[in-house]
Amino acid sequence: MAHTLRPNVAAVLPEKQGHLVITERPIPTPGPGELLVLNAAVAANPSDWKVQSFGVLVDKFPAVLGSDVAGTVVSVGQGVTRFKAGDRVIAFSLGMVFGNIDAAALQTYTILNENATSHLPQSLTFQQGATLPVAMTTAAIALFADLELPMREKHANEKGAILVWSGASSVGVGAIQIAHALGWTVYTTASPKHHAWLKELGATDVWDYRDSQVAQHIGQAARAAGLKIRGAIDTRSEDSSFDLVAAALIAADSASGARVATVLPWPADTPKPEGTETLSINCFRFVKDRQDIGTWLFGSWLHKALEDGSIRPAPKVRVIEGGLKGAQNMLDTLKDGVSGEKLVIDI
Ligand SMILES: NC(=O)c1ccc[n+]([C@@H]2O[C@H](COP(=O)([O-])OP(=O)(O)OC[C@H]3O[C@@H](n4cnc5c(N)ncnc54)[C@H](OP(=O)(O)O)[C@@H]3O)[C@@H](O)[C@H]2O)c1
Repeated sequence: MAHTLRPNVAAVLPEKQGHLVITERPIPTPGPGELLVLNAAVAANPSDWKVQSFGVLVDKFPAVLGSDVAGTVVSVGQGVTRFKAGDRVIAFSLGMVFGNIDAAALQTYTILNENATSHLPQSLTFQQGATLPVAMTTAAIALFADLELPMREKHANEKGAILVWSGASSVGVGAIQIAHALGWTVYTTASPKHHAWLKELGATDVWDYRDSQVAQHIGQAARAAGLKIRGAIDTRSEDSSFDLVAAALIAADSASGARVATVLPWPADTPKPEGTETLSINCFRFVKDRQDIGTWLFGSWLHKALEDGSIRPAPKVRVIEGGLKGAQNMLDTLKDGVSGEKLVIDI
């Protein structure tokens, strides 16, 4: 059935560090390789409140924030082959960071890049789908570009464990699930209330990051299993997390040759363990120098993994009421901190 266009209501950031205001915007037309999508659910990421509060990353105003989209394709631009009107999709919308207001999430219609879009299985809701794109992309970049894991199932002769620090975060659950689905042993840390849930998602073992002996416990587990930690992803990258990840690698006799990917840069004044390489994750590499990872994730793997259940939407959806009018509340709530939850609004 043909789609009857409705007003493109948007939550607009009118100026640097301003407050979101609800306005109507023109409905854009998709260009080559693009889709126009009617959004059903949009999830928040820390980058959204950081852009607003700190005035970073975005320098063109008015702007629209938001990068995690789930919705229905309205029309497709020239050359789009994988999607057609009516398809249910999820996507990493790129407009906030690349300065294209039409391609950001917090509005009724968003222009999406075909290469950053995946089909959403019928079994999943739009709210669940919206939790995935940014976190899964960041996790995939960390695992494949930074830790240099092969983009395929682990072979029996490939040994080693992956450490995911702060595993109940959005990026953390993404990294745990991808690494587990490919056959890797995954150690992680989180608040105790998340331990059973993270094991269900594929973590081999979980420890409380507040435990004063956490590094020793990780080291003991790795040594008992006869495994080196070949790479770590610090999805917290704040305060003590750098030192604790370093201590865990040392306790596991794994510092030499290990690669550590951090969501925020490793501080210059924090010592790195000898022999360890630290790398700062840049999730946008999937549309730059690591388009192969974008193709792997959005082109096929994510949809198949969601259909066969090897990847589950996580963390738990928490809906913020009010639709786009609730967008400011969603960003404020995320800024205050969440624990094992992804904040989502219905559009
Ligand atoms: N570089 C990039 O390309 C990139 C891309 C995406 C995100 N990021 C950044 O990555 C970070 C994580 O994003 P996200 O969306 O995954 O975050 P998130 O889901 O909001 O993270 C929430 C989690 O943080 C954990 N946490 C709170 N205090 C902690 C502590 N002291 N030690 C360890 N964990 C703690 C909590 O764990 P418990 O519930 O277990 O207590 C909670 O579940 C943000 O800074 C974000 O800006 C960077």
